Amino acid sequence: MSETIILEKVNRVAVLTLNRPKALNALNAELLECLMQHVSELSNDPDTGCIVITGSEKAFAAGADIKEMSDMSYIDMVMPDHFGRHNAIENCRLPIIAAVSGYALGGGCELAMMCDFILAADTAQFGQPEITLAIIPGIGGTQRLTRAIGKAKAMEMILTGRLMDAEEAERAGLAARIIPADELMAETMMVAEKIAGFSRPSVYAAKESIKRSFEVSLAEGLHYEQRVFYPLFATEDQKEGMAAFMEKRKPKFKHK
Ligand code: CAA
Repeated sequence: MSETIILEKVNRVAVLTLNRPKALNALNAELLECLMQHVSELSNDPDTGCIVITGSEKAFAAGADIKEMSDMSYIDMVMPDHFGRHNAIENCRLPIIAAVSGYALGGGCELAMMCDFILAADTAQFGQPEITLAIIPGIGGTQRLTRAIGKAKAMEMILTGRLMDAEEAERAGLAARIIPADELMAETMMVAEKIAGFSRPSVYAAKESIKRSFEVSLAEGLHYEQRVFYPLFATEDQKEGMAAFMEKRKPKFKHK
């Protein structure tokens, strides 16, 4: 497996670190392939309860690799479906947190938005500067950024290529929280450990229901939520969670 991604397991949390620091973690085909393979494998790993994707202090990722793409033709893009094969993150059942420090631009911003939520260092800068290269976002930017921050801001950012700092990103709803840069990983790990400690069926159900809200009407979504809420009463963990509350002790979840 390539070293463009470093996998580290800490208890039930898997940390995937993008590792092309000299290229500001530009997303080349090798890195994307390796990242997606790790996420696919972790998605089915019973010992993992949460995934963190992060980069370096200077860059989460400065976009798709411009040097790799510069000479590519339409056929080179379309035949292998260059950016269309990377659904592992979208399909992953485990929560994925993007811990973003420094630049998250172009494909880097899109990668962060593919994750379930973004924890941003106070140094984070987000943007979709593809227009400056005479292209547009190609891994979901026009769709996910618009859903995250609304039409006006998404239009302005994508049509001008301007960057957004961490404060604006949090205000606009792109980042869940801002954390001082030197505390980003410690805080992210605490959040990830917390999620990983909850009962996995309920974590799956919560994530699936929220994701569903982006696809269906409110009535459909409410119906879906009930359909995944009731079966949780068939889990041992629901009995344990509620018993522990009443007995004033910590629950011991078995993820079943
Ligand atoms: N692709 C390839 N290499 C990149 C890169 C990218 N997206 N971003 C940075 N690098 C490389 C630089 O070429 C440079 O390499 P060399 O030392 O070999 O010259 C190295 O990383 C360091 O970068 P800079 O010297 O430019 O660093 P800086 O601090 O002066 O500037 C930056 C940082 C503002 C992020 C600047 O690097 C930049 O503008 N990068 C490109 C951002 C961008 O346009 N991203 C969108 C890419 S297209 C895309 O993502 C399409 C899609 O949606 C699928």
